[in-house]
Amino acid sequence: MSSTGTDVEVDHEALRRQALDALVAARERTALLTSCVEDVELVAQHSPLMSPLVWDLAHIGNQEEQWLWRAVAGRDALRPEIDSLYDAFQHSRASRPSLPLLSPGEARAYAADVRLRILDVLERTPLEGRPLLDAAFAFGMIAQHEQQHDETMLITHQLRKGPVVLTAPPPPAPESGPLPTEVLVPGGPFTMGTSSEPWALDNERPAHPREVPAFHIDTTPVTNGAYLAFMTDGGYADRRWWQPEGWAQLREHGIAAPLFWRRDGGQWLRRRFGVTEQVPAEEPVLHVSWYEADAYARWAGRRLPTEAEWEKAARHDPVSGRSRRYPWGDADPGPEHANLGQRHLRPAAVGSYPAGASPLGVRQLIGDVWEWTASDFLPYPGFTAFPYKEYSEVFFGSEHKVLRGGSFAVDPVACRGTFRNWDLPVRRQIFSGFRTARSAELD
Ligand code: AVJ
Ligand code: FE
Repeated sequence: MSSTGTDVEVDHEALRRQALDALVAARERTALLTSCVEDVELVAQHSPLMSPLVWDLAHIGNQEEQWLWRAVAGRDALRPEIDSLYDAFQHSRASRPSLPLLSPGEARAYAADVRLRILDVLERTPLEGRPLLDAAFAFGMIAQHEQQHDETMLITHQLRKGPVVLTAPPPPAPESGPLPTEVLVPGGPFTMGTSSEPWALDNERPAHPREVPAFHIDTTPVTNGAYLAFMTDGGYADRRWWQPEGWAQLREHGIAAPLFWRRDGGQWLRRRFGVTEQVPAEEPVLHVSWYEADAYARWAGRRLPTEAEWEKAARHDPVSGRSRRYPWGDADPGPEHANLGQRHLRPAAVGSYPAGASPLGVRQLIGDVWEWTASDFLPYPGFTAFPYKEYSEVFFGSEHKVLRGGSFAVDPVACRGTFRNWDLPVRRQIFSGFRTARSAELD
């Protein structure tokens, strides 16, 4: 079939539909997270680590105004006077409750007003001719931005004390019998990053070759049960396993278990979205810092995987030699592949999602828990900031560690085999876990 103008039109219509669906899905999630509590709870500070929920709500609208109304459509600012209130770099999270923020009603109305205008912009704007418009990139970027804040808001809900307001069905039970504990990934080059994924963010680009020597990687994330063995063995009291900064954090804050855990006689309990329950042994450990992950790995005689190792395990197809979008192939994530999108408000037990396995049999790389890697957040060779330096570039360096794979709280639109998240190594309120690795030369 020849390529005609009609085909191009059809492509654009499909892109428009994809962008629309992504924006609508994000707003539904935002509405749910901001309507399940009273307005007084939206303006309250539930933790100095987080913004009040009403800040996230108006910030979501403000980013959409800046990028889609002003930059894409070229229109005049609607509320230029609020830009600085919702600029994440101008005010620390702890200070945001004392700013003259929009009220919940105003924030809702503002985000809704921006959105109504943007639906019209999306219908009228040709999706080509400018990098922001190609493949509807700016619309995809803004849908991802909103979903990222929806994960942030879910973290705030987890920190919030009070009656239960969020519930979800449990994830599917594991289907497989015992799995091998680790998988050997053969050495050799693979393609890291992407130059073809239309909505990949600047830090995922460009695709480039990486030499990765053979290594073994855990088949599944480290479980609560395995982590408890480290605790029972005195892991938190043994300086040998800890980086000096991690050891200092334990002393300063009296840390001796993952965040949200507490001991009750002979058992460990955890608080999860307002419910106190027994720590489930077969679930991936959650709410650990990079230091805790690193200490566990050292105690186990292993190490955290590098970011390149993680991505090779997740994307490299040993048969074709090609890097794919996801461990299971190029298909978008479905509910059979991975625990994503806040469908379940917890990680799934290890051994779940057999349909999401990589060709070599590595499980649950996508979804469940963000996985700490050994690597600092650095640009790939050939990186160019796009469309703004404050998304990635200002965070590059040795201060932040990379997390991969996404958690149960992140939407598929903001989760790929190439997607890179980062945070400070002390962070524990995020939906973070890990798996371990070892180099194969040691065999
Ligand atoms: C990529 C999750 C680290 O939340 O700080 C949201 C995403 N950037 N608004 C963050 C982001 C701007 C970012 N992380
Ligand atoms: Fe933001």
